[in-house]
Amino acid sequence: MTDPATPRPSVLVTGPVLEAVVERQLGARFAVVALADLARTDPRAVRAIATRGAARVDAALMDRLPALEVIANFGVGYDTVDAAAAAARGVVVTHTPDVLDDEVADLTLGLLLATVRRLPEADRFVRAGRWRAGAFPLTATLRGRTVGMVGMGRIGRAIARRLDAFGVGLVYHSRRKVADLGYDHVPDLLAMARAVDTLVVIVPGGPATRHMVNAEVLAALGPDGVLVNVARGSVVDEPALLAALQAGTILAAGLDVFEDEPRVPEAFFSLDNVVLLPHVGSATTRTRTAMGQLVVDNLFSWFDGTGPLTPVPETPWPRR
Ligand code: NAP
Ligand code: 8YV
Repeated sequence: MTDPATPRPSVLVTGPVLEAVVERQLGARFAVVALADLARTDPRAVRAIATRGAARVDAALMDRLPALEVIANFGVGYDTVDAAAAAARGVVVTHTPDVLDDEVADLTLGLLLATVRRLPEADRFVRAGRWRAGAFPLTATLRGRTVGMVGMGRIGRAIARRLDAFGVGLVYHSRRKVADLGYDHVPDLLAMARAVDTLVVIVPGGPATRHMVNAEVLAALGPDGVLVNVARGSVVDEPALLAALQAGTILAAGLDVFEDEPRVPEAFFSLDNVVLLPHVGSATTRTRTAMGQLVVDNLFSWFDGTGPLTPVPETPWPRR
C-alpha cells in the first residue's frame, strides 16, 4: 500500500470513466485530476492516467507528465493510447480484455440478425401502423450464408462459437493462422471477401487496419453481401461503404462503430439497408462494471507494487 505519510498519487482522468465504479474507488486512494483541470495542477504529481476511447493519450500528453508510470484504458481496444510512445518512456499501459468477450459477441449476433432480417425497419413498420395495409416484405436470410470473420481473437472466437450454433459456414482472416481452430484461415482479405457473402469485422483499430475494408473488398463481397462492423470505425472506408449501400454493391450493413464518433454521417440515416448502433457492444451494466473494476484493479495493483494485471502486448511485462 502507499505509505500514509507520503502524498496521495495523482491520477489524471481524461473524461468520464464510469464514475460510479472507477472514479469513486480511485477517489478513495488517489487525488483524481480531471483533464480540464490539468493546467491548474502540478503535472509532476500525476503518476497515472485512467482513460477511455473518447480521449487521446499521445506522446505530447505523456511529455507533460514526467512522473507518469501507468495508463489504464477502459476498453480492450486501446487505439487512442499511443502504446509505443508509452513503452519508449517506460510507461505501462493496461486494458480490459476477456471480461467483455461474451457481451460483445451477443451484440454482434443481434446486429447480424437485425441487419439480414431488417428488424429495426420491421419495428418501424409496425409502429407506423403500416401492417394494416399489408405484410412486411420478405427479407434476405442467414440460411446458406458463409461468414468471413475479419479477426479471430478473443471476441472473434466468442462470435464464432455463436455462429456455429446458427449453422452457417465460417472462415477467417487474420495475419497469423490460429492453431487448433477448426475453421479455414484465409491469409488474403480480398480473396476471403470473394469467397463469402458476409463479413464480420472484429480486429483492433489503428494504422495497421485502417480502411482494410475498402471499396474493392465491398465489391468482392457482392450484391448479396452483408457487412457487420463491431471493431472500430477506422477499419472500414466509410465513404466507400456509404456508396456501396447506396448503389446496391452490397445488400446491407450493421454498424456499431464509426470513424468519427459520435458524429455519424447523416447520409446513412435515410438508408433502410443499414442498421446503426451507438457503439454499444459492451454497454451493459454488468459488463461495463467488470471493465471499470479491472481499470481500478490494474491501478491498485500497480501502486501496491504487484505490477499490472492486464498489460497490453506493447508493454513488456515482466520488465526485461
Ligand atoms: P484480440 O484478441 O487482440 O484479437 C484481434 C484479432 O485481430 C486477432 O485475430 C488478430 O490476429 C487480428 N488482427 C490484428 N491486427 C490485424 C491486421 N492488421 N490484419 C488482420 N488481422 C489483424 O482482440 P479482441 O479482444 O478480440 O478485440 C478486438 C477489437 O474489438 C478491439 O481491439 C476493439 O477495437 C474492438 N471492440 C469493440 C467493441 C464494441 O463495443 N464495438 C467492444 C470491444 C472490442 P493477428 O494478430 O494474427 O493478425
Ligand atoms: C468500450 C470498446 O465501450 O472495449 C472496447 O474496445 O470498444 C468498448 O467496450 C469503449 O472502449 C469505452 O470507451
